[in-house]
Amino acid sequence: MAVSGLIMIGYLLAHMYGNLKVFAGQEAFDDYAHHLRTLGEPILPYGGALWIIRIVLLVAIGAHVYSAMTLWKRDRKARGGTSRYASSKAKRGVQRSYASFTLRWGGIVILLFVVYHLLHLTWNVVAPGGASDSPYERLVNGFQIWWLVVIYTIALLAVGFHLRHGVWSALTTLGANTSATTRRRLNLLAYLVAILITGGFLLVPFSILFGVVS
Ligand code: HEM
Repeated sequence: MAVSGLIMIGYLLAHMYGNLKVFAGQEAFDDYAHHLRTLGEPILPYGGALWIIRIVLLVAIGAHVYSAMTLWKRDRKARGGTSRYASSKAKRGVQRSYASFTLRWGGIVILLFVVYHLLHLTWNVVAPGGASDSPYERLVNGFQIWWLVVIYTIALLAVGFHLRHGVWSALTTLGANTSATTRRRLNLLAYLVAILITGGFLLVPFSILFGVVS
C-alpha cells in the first residue's frame, strides 16, 4: 500500500508541475504534450517512455486497490462480524475514524474521477466545451464550464484529504515514525504535500474559469 502510494505521489507531483505549462501559452503546452511522446527517442519508439510510465502506474494502482481490499476484509474479520467498534468518544457511539473515511471513500471518488478524466483529456471521448486535437484547447474549452471545475475541485479535495493521511500513513508503514518529533515532522510533510498537489492542480481550472488563461 505504502510503496504503490508513494509511486503515485511521484506521478502526481510530475503531472501537476507539467500542467503549469498552460501558463506559458498554447504552443508551450502542446509542445510539452508532444515531447511526452518523443521522450527517449530514438532509443525508445514514439510514445515508449509514456507507455513505461503508464505500465508502472497501472501496476501501482492495481497493487494499491488490491492491498486496500485485503486490508478492508482483514479489518471486517477482526471486528468479528459487527459493523463498527463501539466507542465512547464518537458522537454516534460507534467508531469511524477520519482516516478510514477519507482513505476508503476518498479512494473510490478518486478512482471514479480518473476514469472520467481519461475519457475527457486522454481519450477525448467526452468533450465538455468542445473537442480539439490540441491538448491546450481541450483544457481551455472544458474549464470555462463551471460544473466541470466543480467536478475537478471535488476530486482534487478528495486527493488532498487522501494524501494528507496517506503520506503520513505510508511513511509510518515504512518505519519513519519513530518519535514525537518525527511524528510532528511527518504530519507537517503530509500537509505540505497535500496542499502543494491539490493547490497546484486547482490553479489551472480556476485560472481558466476566471479568464487568467484563455
Ligand atoms: C486540474 C487537474 C488536472 C488537469 C488539468 C489534468 C490534465 C491532464 C491532461 C491534459 C492529460 C492528457 C495529457 C496528454 O495526453 O497529453 C492528463 C492525463 C492524465 N491525468 Fe491528469 N490532470 C489533472 C488532474 C489529475 C489527477 C488528480 C490525476 C490522478 C489522480 C490525474 C491523472 C492522469 C492520468 C492517469 C492521465 C493519463 C496519462 C496517460 O496515460 O497519457 N490527472 N491530465
